[in-house]
Amino acid sequence: MDRPLLVNRLAFDAEAERRELVAGLLRDPACIAPKYFYDELGCALYGAICRLPEYYPTRTEIALFQSRRLEIAKAIGHGRQFVDLGAGDCCKAKGWLPFLEPARYVAVDIAMHEIAAALEKLAPDFPALELVGVATDFSRALELDGILSDTPALFFYPGSSIGNFTPAEATAFLAHVHRYCLARPGSSLLIGVDGKKEKSLLDAAYDDALGVTASFNRNALRHVNARFGLGFDVSGFAHVGFYNEAQGRIEMHLESVRDQSVHLDGSERRFRPGDRIHTENSYKYTPAEFEAVLAGAGFGSVRRWDAEGVAYSVFLAS
Ligand code: AVI
Repeated sequence: MDRPLLVNRLAFDAEAERRELVAGLLRDPACIAPKYFYDELGCALYGAICRLPEYYPTRTEIALFQSRRLEIAKAIGHGRQFVDLGAGDCCKAKGWLPFLEPARYVAVDIAMHEIAAALEKLAPDFPALELVGVATDFSRALELDGILSDTPALFFYPGSSIGNFTPAEATAFLAHVHRYCLARPGSSLLIGVDGKKEKSLLDAAYDDALGVTASFNRNALRHVNARFGLGFDVSGFAHVGFYNEAQGRIEMHLESVRDQSVHLDGSERRFRPGDRIHTENSYKYTPAEFEAVLAGAGFGSVRRWDAEGVAYSVFLAS
């Protein structure tokens, strides 16, 4: 058995990716997909964000998992194949493995370099565990056919990453997960979801005093420059991150600080001072709103655990 087994499902059509990126940048307002945050440096910056005092979701979820581990593990059951959506450094999953005792661990992420390194590190601690790493952009489509075994699965989607989809996209994505669950009786989804809360807390979480989130946001420009040979001057854009209460979402933008332009495949995109490039949304849900999303995706049975002191919940749905 190859251990870990690495599968690259990144549809690598560089020209199509470039066209899509350029089309977004020529739109009004311009946009860059959040997947461009996550090159090697961006993954490291995201790791740093998770350690910031202002960014409460990671430590809140860790504390909730730690305090409710046995109860949640009992509700999931033993021996499910553990499918980790957005596995990253696999640290969150690692805490569950001794409690759930899966026979297989399937780590899914857009960043192959990260999961390959993480699985190598995990392997000696779990010698009997079958390890599979899948590099895929599941924000487009969750394509795990031929990778999942027929046995019951636990789909693990922590960190409130579901918030980076619109509610309609989230429903469609979770409906796909639900179809995989239906085909494997005994399967379920364990998902962490950030709640609606005071604007000042949310604003600070996405615009921290150290400027780590600002660097994470601006790194998207550095990444697309390196990947597609574009000429963004990273210092010409400022980070903007705030909670839009009417939309129930965090918005992140890069705002031009001066008059400047960028060449984009035969077109020239001008950015005046104050013009923005929209880089990310992060939707926040009340428990009832998220239960409606799960119901819309087909999940009929839902249990919920709430964090103490801050609106953040974990749902187990089947
Ligand atoms: C990955 N995702 C859940 C993070 C979030 O909170 O939406 C990404 C992030 N963006 C800025 N800070 C963190």
